Amino acid sequence: MTETPRPVIVPGSFDPVTNGHVDIIERASRLFDRVVVAVLVNPGKSPLFSLEERLLFLAGAVGRHPGVEVDSFQGLLVDYARRRDAAAVVRGLRRSSDFDYEAPMAQMNRHLAPGIETVFLVPSPAVAHISSTLVRDIVRHGGSIDGLVPDGVTTFLARRRESTTRQHV
Ligand code: PNS
Repeated sequence: MTETPRPVIVPGSFDPVTNGHVDIIERASRLFDRVVVAVLVNPGKSPLFSLEERLLFLAGAVGRHPGVEVDSFQGLLVDYARRRDAAAVVRGLRRSSDFDYEAPMAQMNRHLAPGIETVFLVPSPAVAHISSTLVRDIVRHGGSIDGLVPDGVTTFLARRRESTTRQHV
């Protein structure tokens, strides 16, 4: 009898998902049979995109990739990982400053849940300059995010701008 493989979790705020995230998720799905992309619901933060929008963008970008599932979670990542019986957490590392942010989280997660590993993947140089923070800044200033995010995000924003403009005519 074959057992269902334990998933790995790719957690994040995904506000919004970028082509950098997609690169990491695709790399993870080539390495692992089951990948759960998990959006953090953080009541202390007011995201630019609602949880529903962030889930929709992710579903459009990676939801049809084999073995990839999109979900959300609240609270500690390790508690969610335990509930999902995950073997590991996967995070992207673009540069050394990412390591400074990621290493204490990985070590704290290991302290809390020694059985759950953190695996770091390095994205393609073509997308290594992309971050959700910079994308949000461009969106707030009305710039173009073509090529930085999956098409679903740009289409959504174009429609939203269109309907806002129509309302003001
Ligand atoms: O995309 P982000 O915002 O860099 O992702 C950060 C995330 C969601 C991975 C991290 O904030 C997280 O795991 N939050 C859940 C709460 C938690 O477990 N905190 C302790 C981490 S040591």
